[in-house]
Amino acid sequence: MRRLILVLPFVLFLHCKKQPTVPTGIVTEKAMVVSAREEASKIGSKIMENGGNAFDAMVATELALAVAYPFAGNLGGGGFIVYRQSNGDIGGLDYREKAPLSAHKDMYLDSLGNVIPNMSIVGATAVGVPGTVAGVMEVHKRFGSLPLSDILNPVIALAKKGVVVTDKQAKRLENYRERIIAVNSDSTKFAANFKVGDTIKYPQLAETLGKILQQGRDGFYKGEVALKLASFIQENGGFVTEEDLEKYEAKWRQPVVFKYKDLQIISMSPPSSGGVTINQIFKMIEPYNISRYGHNSTKAIQLFTEAARRAYADRNYFLGDPDFVDIPLDVLLSDSYLEERMENFSFKNPTLSSEVSHGNIEIVESDETTHYSIVDAQGNAISATTTLNGGYGSKLYCEELGFFLNNEMDDFSAKPGIPNMFGLIGAEANSIAPEKRMLSSMTPTIVEKDGKLFMVVGTPGGSTIITAVAQTILNVYEFDLSMQEAVNAPRFHHQWLPDVITFEEEGFSPALKSELGDIGYQIYEGKNRIIGKVDAIKVLENGKLEGGADKRGDDAAVGF
Ligand code: DON
Repeated sequence: MRRLILVLPFVLFLHCKKQPTVPTGIVTEKAMVVSAREEASKIGSKIMENGGNAFDAMVATELALAVAYPFAGNLGGGGFIVYRQSNGDIGGLDYREKAPLSAHKDMYLDSLGNVIPNMSIVGATAVGVPGTVAGVMEVHKRFGSLPLSDILNPVIALAKKGVVVTDKQAKRLENYRERIIAVNSDSTKFAANFKVGDTIKYPQLAETLGKILQQGRDGFYKGEVALKLASFIQENGGFVTEEDLEKYEAKWRQPVVFKYKDLQIISMSPPSSGGVTINQIFKMIEPYNISRYGHNSTKAIQLFTEAARRAYADRNYFLGDPDFVDIPLDVLLSDSYLEERMENFSFKNPTLSSEVSHGNIEIVESDETTHYSIVDAQGNAISATTTLNGGYGSKLYCEELGFFLNNEMDDFSAKPGIPNMFGLIGAEANSIAPEKRMLSSMTPTIVEKDGKLFMVVGTPGGSTIITAVAQTILNVYEFDLSMQEAVNAPRFHHQWLPDVITFEEEGFSPALKSELGDIGYQIYEGKNRIIGKVDAIKVLENGKLEGGADKRGDDAAVGF
């Protein structure tokens, strides 16, 4: 009996100690890339196998996505990375597009001051100055370890050899075909009726990449390519000039860093709203111990929704390009401010968005950006999100250079109070000005636990990016899902306005929705699309890596 009393506390301790979650995704020993296409993940992983670091792999993966995933991968767009080196140093790079020099506040308004439909969304008028090539060259200059030729040659080879059309890609191409023809005429490469199993080759893109290999960023922003690109955009009615291209610079930025319980979360700072908004959401839910409500339970959804509602209201009003506007970050991210924001929260009924602010708009979600996550054998980590904004961007395809151009100008607020294509309404902070960067929702994020690398995560999804990243982190940390399960788990979204909760089609029962409805929440009744395509990596307790490649796309984890 005495012995039993002695061992009982020990048995109880063992019983209560949390068992590590069993991984269900691909597990590798040392290094991994998770991206939207296996071809790109393979090239990135191979670069690391050949002795390159995560930064070399980032350059290769980003450019390989421009070849293998033209829906969002790009030379004609922009993005953000957040990195964490093996020694714990962190940073962020902003290679977001900029407004051209000739841009001005009212450029998308007619003489009566109304927004001209589609002008910031479709065709050359929507194009911002691309940042991607400057971004990858800057990463290589500062952190690269392999010669550029070792990195670019496999990408150029892929463009020449071509990429096989997947089932999902064939559907996307079909879905966008008429819109691409409308902008480019039916002589465009993408007027063809591509079928599953076809191979699409990109010889012009291979040539453009060759120029970048020979001359670095000048191979894109100066000389022949710049001249061709600027002339092409202007012939089609757009505003980007050679001077705009020459002046483009990527910018290193301090990421947003905050604590959530024993995690330290590192995410992108303005001009992306991702880091600030996710910081606000996490801090508002932290006092409630969300795990005890259960994964995707009524109460967990309520709490998350109320935090998101308040955070998006701030996002839309206060955030913009920090080089142009003062953002009161110290207040927005302070504990006392966020506590006060949640003071009127109650599980009994929703806070109406009209009480937080006002407006009445349509929501549109999509997944036309792309995210990839990388960890190398030394433990360097990169979280990168890159975009053309809409699917195939502005739909304007430069045949001669082999790539699509962005429609990122739509991420500005063309007119205060009028929603953009994501239903986001902006304010003065995000109005258009020459050389200003448009506000983004991209949320490339790295999570540390106990001072060590724990997770690399991000997603496309426009305004839903921020909530999808937050839910994925909570799925792992609070609800003990494996990395792959956390990525696949059904997601929901709220963005202040419109005052509705959107659910993915699968995974939320009618009973749960009606319970939320009874409490007073509006449930979005339109067509429910997927929310994000998260690509993430988790460092397991034994130091191995588990990939989370979203089942919603053709995404793939590759490593060694
Ligand atoms: O920067 C942004 O927030 C948007 N341009 C991202 C676009 C996106 O995720 C497209 N897919 N939904």
